[in-house]
Order: sequence, then C-alpha cells, then structure tokens
Amino acid sequence: MARIAPSLLAADFTHLHDEVRKISASTDILHLDVMDGHFVPNISFGPAIIKQLRPHTSVYFDVHLMISNPERYAPIFVDAGAQGITVHVETFSSVEHGMKVIQALKDLHVDVGITLKPGTPIATLYPYLSSVQRALVMTVEPGFGGQSFMMSQVSKIRDLFAFREQHHLHFDIEVDGGVTRETAPLCIEAGADTLVAGTSVFKSKDYQLAIQEMGGLR
Ligand code: DX5
Ligand code: ZN
Repeated sequence: MARIAPSLLAADFTHLHDEVRKISASTDILHLDVMDGHFVPNISFGPAIIKQLRPHTSVYFDVHLMISNPERYAPIFVDAGAQGITVHVETFSSVEHGMKVIQALKDLHVDVGITLKPGTPIATLYPYLSSVQRALVMTVEPGFGGQSFMMSQVSKIRDLFAFREQHHLHFDIEVDGGVTRETAPLCIEAGADTLVAGTSVFKSKDYQLAIQEMGGLR
C-alpha cells in the first residue's frame, strides 16, 4: 500500500475547479508541478493558480518546484498555500548552499522535500536527508507528464529506503513519473511511501478506482 498523490498537471485545465473538487473526494494530497521553462524545458503554472485553488479544497498541497533559484520563489508558494515544497538538488551550487536553501524553507514552516533528475546520483541527496521531510525519486525526466516509467531509477528508491533505516530517519519516500497500475507495485516493493500519479489518475474515468488500482490507501 502507498499513498497516491495525484498530479494536477494531467487535469483538465478548462475545468480546474471541478477537477480539484472531484479529486479531493479521493485523496488527501495533491501534487503541484511548477515549471519555469529554464530548469526544465516546459512551463506549467505558478503561485497565482495555486492560491486561487487553495480555498476550494483542504487537501495537502505538495508543490514540486522544477525551477531555478527555488529559494527566491518558495515564500510566494507558501503564501499561496503550499504545505510541502520540494526542490531539486541540481539547483544547489554546493552542499553548503543546499543546506542554506533547506534552512530557508524550514523557516517558512513547510515540509521540505529534496529531489533529483534521473541522471543525478542518489548520493547527492544524502547530505540533506536528516534535514528533510520528503525525498522524491524522479522516474521520468522532469518537464512533462505522460512519459514512460524509467526502470533504471527503482534502485534509488531502494537506496533511500536503506539509508533511512541505517540512519534511523523518518523522511517520506515519494516517486514521481510514469506511475501506473503496472509500475506502482515495483515502487511500493522497493520502499516508496507516496506515489505521484498524473496521467493514470486524471485521464481515467474513475479517479477513486484508478487510485485504488495503484495500491492507494484511499
Ligand atoms: C514531471 C512531473 C510529474 C508528472 C507526473 O515533470 O514532475 O509530476 O506530472 O505525470 P505522469 O504521472 O503523467 O507521469
Ligand atoms: Zn512532480
């Protein structure tokens, strides 16, 4: 079993209010993918949309910042209603800088997440894992929904699980990209707690059923 975090990126943006209302009946966490056209080659949505959605649902807003200079924009996303902010390790110029970014996020009183692109070694996350609430394994190249799950990344889930055990830590292990009925069990078996799922939830007819079929808790 795992918690499923539907990714709004795959929702129908012409009926966003309806989509959020519908999905809120089947989950208590919503994944929000923010892209800046610089860190990733795509642009999605920003804080204004998140802020407008905030009064319409009580679900946890899990904001995935695929943007350069996340420390500059994080306060705006917290103000918009984010409860969790996940940043990319590739945006850090050094471990010292990374620790500063994480401290700045903590000072905003949000859950802090750290993530990495598929080509980045898992060990680059290790210095931060005792300071974060969430570690996210990307199983697609960030930037677009609807891509195929990269099997090569499953070992990173196992590595995080082992690291957490070994160091008696408590961060949540989240997996993002290409999660389907077929790939969800592999993630769960490897130790994932939370699975982000865009296409497989929002492009299905029955959101609740899609979540259940991926081994979702609700
Ligand atoms: C990719 C995003 C993912 C993506 C997941 O850049 O971070 O959250 O929207 O979408 P699916 O489930 O369609 O791969
Ligand atoms: Zn994401």
